[in-house]
Amino acid sequence: SHVLINFDDPAFHENPELIFQKLRNTAPIQKIILDDGFPVWLISKFNDAIEVLRDHRFIKSPNSLRTSDTDPLKGKTNRASPAYILRRFHMLANDPPNHTRLRIFAQKAFTPKLITAMRPRIQQITNELIDKIQTDKKCDFIDDFAYQLPIIVIAELLGLPVEDREKLRNWSDVLIEVQVTEKNKQSIEESADAFINYLSNVFALRRKNPGNDLISAFLRLELAEDHLTENELYATIFLLIIAGHETTVNLISNGMHSLLSHPKQLNLLKNNPDLIHSAVEEMLRYNGPVINSTMRLAAEDILINGIKIKKGEGVLVIFLSANQDEAKFDDSLRFDITRQNNKHLAFGYGIHFCIGAPLARLECEIAIKTILERLPNIKFNPDADSLEWRASNIIRGLKKFPVVF
Ligand code: HEM
Repeated sequence: SHVLINFDDPAFHENPELIFQKLRNTAPIQKIILDDGFPVWLISKFNDAIEVLRDHRFIKSPNSLRTSDTDPLKGKTNRASPAYILRRFHMLANDPPNHTRLRIFAQKAFTPKLITAMRPRIQQITNELIDKIQTDKKCDFIDDFAYQLPIIVIAELLGLPVEDREKLRNWSDVLIEVQVTEKNKQSIEESADAFINYLSNVFALRRKNPGNDLISAFLRLELAEDHLTENELYATIFLLIIAGHETTVNLISNGMHSLLSHPKQLNLLKNNPDLIHSAVEEMLRYNGPVINSTMRLAAEDILINGIKIKKGEGVLVIFLSANQDEAKFDDSLRFDITRQNNKHLAFGYGIHFCIGAPLARLECEIAIKTILERLPNIKFNPDADSLEWRASNIIRGLKKFPVVF
């Protein structure tokens, strides 16, 4: 059938709601062929998304499917290369029982208690960021605020020097967005190698001199029975850095964009700050930062809603579309910060459900609440060019977001 969706097309990102709606109504489970010839099914309806995400026959690790692993990062020998380690040795790239072991390990240290304890510090960082922009009366909401907060928070949580965040950013940029080819393989491996070296130095320091940061907690757990290998630890920390990198910034900025685009909802929240919790859930549902799930592969032929997905084919769940499904949410294209029973998929579903969700919610809650308290007149900068959305197939976010206050 005719392919409705082109994630590379900037025009698509200007107004994805209508295209998603058409997709749900005409081709809710649609096969596309990627540039490299790989067949992938796009899942755009809420109920189908749940069915896929809870089905353990959709797997993450290609190792169990392919006879020869074609990943160029793996190399010819059995030894995993640095980039292969960072990309494949963490929970999001693995299936049970490995996934379970990796995830339980991380959750032992990344506890709700640890996150709640961050509240005063997140508030303080938020205030300091607002102090810096307040007198200028204008700023770029992303560069000067929303981008800063999550990076400082994750660096402090892990116990990494905040001054290193530019370095961390460059490494993770190279390591996530980039598709590996023979040409760029070298530089990707160099970045991965530098990142692993950096972490191994941090480990050495923390082993001698532990603190109450996450890396020290991970290293203490090394003594436990189900400990991770050193390589799995590198990959886990890498995942925590990148997973918190591009997502929370866009939750905060897309959320602020939704408020500024809906003045009645904005006023409602200003007059009723206690609505912040349901407002954050609605920001996640209405225009959350993650467009698509990561790729799953069918481990056997699987029937979803009468459509046969063949063994070895890929599946992507479009979270953004599932969250706008009129069959699941009343008046689904409406932004309503009082919405109840808002069981959206913005953090995924099933065994890979986001472990950073409590942290992301807390950061967004504090960020939006404090901005509205301290900069209550915030609005779109009327002198700026029209806003542009990034043409990414993973992240939903603005390129720039000029505001005045
Ligand atoms: C997984 C969204 C912030 C750590 C996921 C998944 C989604 C998601 C949709 C599942 C992907 C899939 O199934 O293919 C978000 C959003 C965030 C956010 C919308 C912010 C608004 C964070 C933060 C951290 C984090 C701050 C940690 C510091 C993780 C990890 C996984 C994950 C470790 C993998 C879980 C597993 O495989 O079991 N996230 N995330 N995320 N997220 Fe987040």
